[in-house]
Amino acid sequence: MEGIEIFSRGVIESRVRELASEIDRFYGDEPIVAVCVLKGAFLFFSDLVRAMRNDVTVDFVRLSSYEDRTESSGVFRLLKDTEASLVGRHVLIVEDIIDSGRSMEYLSKLFLGRGAKSVRFAALLDKKERRVVPLVADFVGFDLPRGFVVGYGMDYAEKYRTLPGIWILQDA
Ligand code: IMP
Ligand code: MG
Repeated sequence: MEGIEIFSRGVIESRVRELASEIDRFYGDEPIVAVCVLKGAFLFFSDLVRAMRNDVTVDFVRLSSYEDRTESSGVFRLLKDTEASLVGRHVLIVEDIIDSGRSMEYLSKLFLGRGAKSVRFAALLDKKERRVVPLVADFVGFDLPRGFVVGYGMDYAEKYRTLPGIWILQDA
């Protein structure tokens, strides 16, 4: 792979622990449903919820993918839906990267429509300069102004997900 490691395993570990305490402090005694957006967020999600100390129910969704392209089309399908009832509950969507913001906007509307009391976003990486919809992440690991990254759960055409660090691909 032609790439450069931009966040090492150790740097990610300590930032994820900080995020977990931020989230704990924010929700306090309120129970939450943490929804992992598969597949990219799976490692971030498992490290994050393990480091959290508040009352968390875990759930999972999977959106139709980029299909090996590097940008989203804005048209979504749910390949896997949540199982927990979201009515009257605080939902925290856990995502690897927020880019255009379209997929988070879609999920947020969907969950609010199902009666969630609140919907917030935790993203490991935020490409906020690239938003096409006005969506603000509530809890962010790192800002990423440019580049396509892989590793720590994230892929390019299903490759590189199992790398422990986060890498910028040179040729994407
Ligand atoms: P959005 O709907 O444009 O915000 O797309 C966000 C989704 O695009 C994330 O869940 C990622 O799966 C994917 N994505 C965006 N940028 C990258 C990247 O640099 N590497 C891997 N996946 C990415
Ligand atoms: Mg994703």
